[in-house]
Amino acid sequence: MADKSKLRSQKWFNNPDNQEMTALYLERYLNYGLTREELQSGKPIIGIAQTGSDLSPCNRHHIELTKRVRDGVIAAGGTVIEIPVHPIQETGKRPTAMLDRNLAYLSLVETLFGYPIDGVVLNIGCDKTTPALLMAAATVNIPAIALSVGPMLNGWFNGERTGSGTIVWKAREMQAAGKIDDDGFMDLVASSTPSVGYCNTMGTATTMNSLAEALGMQLPGSAAIPAPYRERGQISYHTGQRIVEMVHEDLRPSDIMTREAFENAIVINSAIGGSTNAPIHLNGVAKHLGIELTNDDWQGIGHKVPLLVNLQPAGKYLGEDYHRAGGVPAVIGELLRAGLLPHPDAVTANGKTMAENCGGMLSGNDDVIYSIDAPMLKDAGFINLKGNLFDSAIMKTSVISEEFRTRYLSDPDDPDAFEGRAIVFDGPEDFHHKIDDVSLGVDEHCILIMRGAGPKGYPGGAEVVNMRPPSYLLKKGIHALPCVGDGRQSGTSGSPSILNASPEAADGGGLALVQTGDRVRIDLRKCTADMLVDDAELKRRAEKLVNGSIEVPDSQTPWQEIFRAMVRPFSEGMTLEGATKYQDIARKY
Ligand code: FES
Ligand code: MG
Repeated sequence: MADKSKLRSQKWFNNPDNQEMTALYLERYLNYGLTREELQSGKPIIGIAQTGSDLSPCNRHHIELTKRVRDGVIAAGGTVIEIPVHPIQETGKRPTAMLDRNLAYLSLVETLFGYPIDGVVLNIGCDKTTPALLMAAATVNIPAIALSVGPMLNGWFNGERTGSGTIVWKAREMQAAGKIDDDGFMDLVASSTPSVGYCNTMGTATTMNSLAEALGMQLPGSAAIPAPYRERGQISYHTGQRIVEMVHEDLRPSDIMTREAFENAIVINSAIGGSTNAPIHLNGVAKHLGIELTNDDWQGIGHKVPLLVNLQPAGKYLGEDYHRAGGVPAVIGELLRAGLLPHPDAVTANGKTMAENCGGMLSGNDDVIYSIDAPMLKDAGFINLKGNLFDSAIMKTSVISEEFRTRYLSDPDDPDAFEGRAIVFDGPEDFHHKIDDVSLGVDEHCILIMRGAGPKGYPGGAEVVNMRPPSYLLKKGIHALPCVGDGRQSGTSGSPSILNASPEAADGGGLALVQTGDRVRIDLRKCTADMLVDDAELKRRAEKLVNGSIEVPDSQTPWQEIFRAMVRPFSEGMTLEGATKYQDIARKY
């Protein structure tokens, strides 16, 4: 049995200095059948941060898995209290699911801090649930372990894999080109969601679940097991057992999510071909631990790392294939073999190091997870661009297509740079309204610019920077134009956009000054992005703006207003002003 005096739950349930309060704290938890023995004998109270609900289909299977987590906790001598978490469903939340990441974070911080919880299982899965829960665990800093809900099974249509999200971009192009009708569109998209679980592509969900494992916050192998597989239930049981041990060992998020762990995660993100949402989330989690992680780190540590994982959208396969080929441990094993994992000694949730967990793990199918000796691509990480359009914006250069390269990057005198005429859109509605209008004059020498789509502009930031060319260009076989913007892009889209621009146009960023018709120059070697407009003219334009920013639509809810007033740029992890100074609060107070 645990040393009772060390459990924070015992301050509520067994405080010898205050019998009266103990009785008051205790009695209500007995009313649904818990016993005094469970609450007072020194069994760790394990919270299960429940993100599964009818509102969150991606995470809904956690309701089932939680039964196995409970079994594991009880077998290891703990008691379970299930914690409802504010729901976040990526595909259904207006205006954006991203807006709710910080809301779920705040509410889980209050819950973990304010109630008698000794350790917590973080039920992660759908895009924003993973960072929200990791951020809360970081702030409160009680022992915590993450459990993925697991990806959906592979989607199939006419004998071909159809991946969640990715198929929508493809179907959209097919429809715009007149190849499928409305019903065909629906059928094709629905084929990509054959079971419970999170997106089966290497979108933000697979990325963030893989990175939660890369950070050491999950049991090895946990991220990639498909939701319906029996191993998913089994690892849920082991996760329940392990969190009880972690409480006894006092192994906390700050012991696991160190600067070294984040550096490992950046490298692993490049090797898996992770989403451009990852820097926003990991920079945010790091800030809540007092660790400075910047987009320069993403380029410096991650850019030169090769791509190993052949998953859609950049590749061919889906979640089941990823798991069968060995999942995250095989990727780490390959990196370790080449000496590319910067910190093999980083400690993970099972108490062992990365090297102990994954050393010698190899790909079980080198068409799905490539061998490090013959990677799928070199230099798969992000670059961090700067210039008069923004201070920082991310680009995944590894997804630049041959078509794109030939059209924009084939000048022998200047092979890394291109220029184009800016076409500026103020938000996604403006884009949808205008893009097919021939009078806008979009041609293959244009650069599409999306603004008003950042954290303040479109509260939370819209995934809209990957803009399709107008239908008349698609019909001519032009599938992608260069895109730049202060919004985000779904991880399920393979477009080589320049995105997450910080600061945004609604927060004093240079994008507020660009106008349709301006020349814009992008240099991928120097990592610059500039509008070729002289300073005097930029000054004139700035004077016409209020506070140097574009205007934004009214907030629709109280939280949107609070969020907009407090949010920091994507490059700062989209964290809330003032929130990151609260660290290690369960031990402090
Ligand atoms: Fe929920 Fe992709 S939409 S995981
Ligand atoms: Mg997404």
